[in-house]
Amino acid sequence: MPQLVVMARVRPMSAAEREQGDLACFAADGTSVNALDDNGSVKSKFPLDDLFWMNQQSQAEVYARSGALATEAVMRGLDACVFAYGQTGSGKTHTMMGTQDDPGILPRAIMDIFDQIARESANAKVFEVDASFFEVYNEQVRDLLSDSSKDAAPKIRRHPTRGVFVEGLRRETVSSSEQALALIDQGMKDRAMSSTLANARSSRSHAVFNISITCTDGRKGTRRNSSAYLIDLAGSERVRQTGATGTQLEEAKNINQSLFSLRRVLDQLAANAEAKKRGQKPGLVPYRDSVLTHVLSDSLGGKSYCLMLAMLSPHSSNYDDSISTLKYAARARQIVLSPKVNEQQSSAALQKAMQAEIDDLRRQLTVTASRSEFDSEDIEMEISIRQDEVERIKHTDTNLDRLMAEFREREQRMNDELAAVEREKREMKVQLTA
Ligand SMILES: Nc1ncnc2c1ncn2[C@@H]1O[C@H](COP(=O)(O)OP(=O)(O)OP(=O)(O)O)[C@@H](O)[C@H]1O
Ligand SMILES: [Mg+2]
Repeated sequence: MPQLVVMARVRPMSAAEREQGDLACFAADGTSVNALDDNGSVKSKFPLDDLFWMNQQSQAEVYARSGALATEAVMRGLDACVFAYGQTGSGKTHTMMGTQDDPGILPRAIMDIFDQIARESANAKVFEVDASFFEVYNEQVRDLLSDSSKDAAPKIRRHPTRGVFVEGLRRETVSSSEQALALIDQGMKDRAMSSTLANARSSRSHAVFNISITCTDGRKGTRRNSSAYLIDLAGSERVRQTGATGTQLEEAKNINQSLFSLRRVLDQLAANAEAKKRGQKPGLVPYRDSVLTHVLSDSLGGKSYCLMLAMLSPHSSNYDDSISTLKYAARARQIVLSPKVNEQQSSAALQKAMQAEIDDLRRQLTVTASRSEFDSEDIEMEISIRQDEVERIKHTDTNLDRLMAEFREREQRMNDELAAVEREKREMKVQLTA
């Protein structure tokens, strides 16, 4: 069984850290990080799946060894999730977003996805891509692609086949990397950022970019859906260090609380993996304790290829926070995943299953309606989501049939042409030898 992949990136000392004296308290040891004591001896060792050390690797190389694995998964039809975790100022935004001149993992993943789509489209495949971009700010989902103050607040829901999703977000169809990159730029303008004592451009929210790909293979007659979450988390902070007051203090409390929920979820998932090995029952995972963990419940819960980037400052002033990040990185490496390709071959079976669910929900509705208005509203919404899905399947299936007929026709034409060329070749040979 694959495990959650955990890599670390240790950024170089900042100018302010260098001014305080060059107090490095970590050393690279292959793909492990060693924590050093005052004499430079190894105090503890943290093995990882890969390690990026003090900018010895360019942003391009970091992507090629980390984010590209998620891109590969999503192009194979798996869901994927990449998140950067670490204290404030450790380099999460630098690694995930990067700069205009030197992009990070998210823009590089977009460019890579569209490069691969261009190559694969030649193989009788049709791709449809759409994207959404939102932030979790003070425990609220805020759409970064629309003025959400005018719209109803987005709500987290569970889709019958696609799992957890955020309803009410704007989803943009994108047909080129330029279009998708423009969405990132648009969203980043609205993202909550401000200056603290620890970071001149500190993220005050978790930013979540979602790209969803549908690939219809006309030759094989299959359709795959996969989606990737690429996440730049806000960083944990000690208020003494960041000097937060007023709004920033409120933000800091919410950031720390949701990261605490994330650590609890990772901890329980690791405990469940151990329990499974011993043949014991798994414990309940507290996904619903925060908006962030609720949104990511499918990704963290094993249905996706999942990659955690543990971000670290090398300076001794951040030692305790870095050790805490490394301990969670080690814990997360124990989480077992079981991602599956979301491929459909027969839509008839899917429509039948969906109709059975609708009938079941209608039965529930008659029982619940008398009890709680809120519950029945939720069930009605679930029914309408499934009805939409049935319609979508019917519609895309018509497309699939049309596509397959086109490909068969084209293949037939090519075979005829090939046969004609062969015939000509044979005739010329006969003429030459005569
Ligand atoms: N690998 C790196 N090379 C050079 N500079 C870096 C690197 N990583 C981070 N930095 C710089 O360090 C500062 C803090 O980085 P960044 O904003 O990415 O931190 P963060 O983890 O996102 O913090 P926060 O949680 O407050 O948002 C920035 O000025 C950034 O340019
Ligand atoms: Mg940041």
